[in-house]
Amino acid sequence: MAMTAPPSGAYKIVAVPELYGDTIRRLGVEGTYVGGSEADSPWVPFGDNAAIRHLAFDVRDNVYVNILWIKGPGVIGTHKHRGRVWAIGLEGSFRYLEYDWVCKPGEFITETPGTAHTLVTDDPGGMKALFHMQGANEFYDEHGNHVETLDVWWFINHYETYCREHGLPINPALYL
Ligand SMILES: [Fe+2]
Repeated sequence: MAMTAPPSGAYKIVAVPELYGDTIRRLGVEGTYVGGSEADSPWVPFGDNAAIRHLAFDVRDNVYVNILWIKGPGVIGTHKHRGRVWAIGLEGSFRYLEYDWVCKPGEFITETPGTAHTLVTDDPGGMKALFHMQGANEFYDEHGNHVETLDVWWFINHYETYCREHGLPINPALYL
């Protein structure tokens, strides 16, 4: 039924019934596609040894999706989550000082409100992981003093500031 393999070129778009079609056309929001180029979304520096590729910003739910790339052995400072995180390893590996596991490509982790931890990669090639994040991240210094809060507005500003400074277009497909 759902999974069939017609000859190449035989696929067709099917019009499906929709009880609420008029309402969806009036209020619904179409999904987006973000390609792989710098113009679609550049790698924006995040400290000296890392970069973030922003993929989605949802200001209604304070949700943001991005790829974190740490380019070699290094650390992302201690932070406390005020929302939920889902993440999947893409390249290299990373761990947290507070936990006993190491996340490698294809492995999935969750982080929950109220937890605090310190991300480290020991991999010579660093790490890449996709993060789906909700709510705020509070960053702290080595003495436990609050330094900065990162939320959807911080991430939007991080992306847009870099684009403005480098003459890159703001990609509307990143905004839900
Ligand atoms: Fe975290």
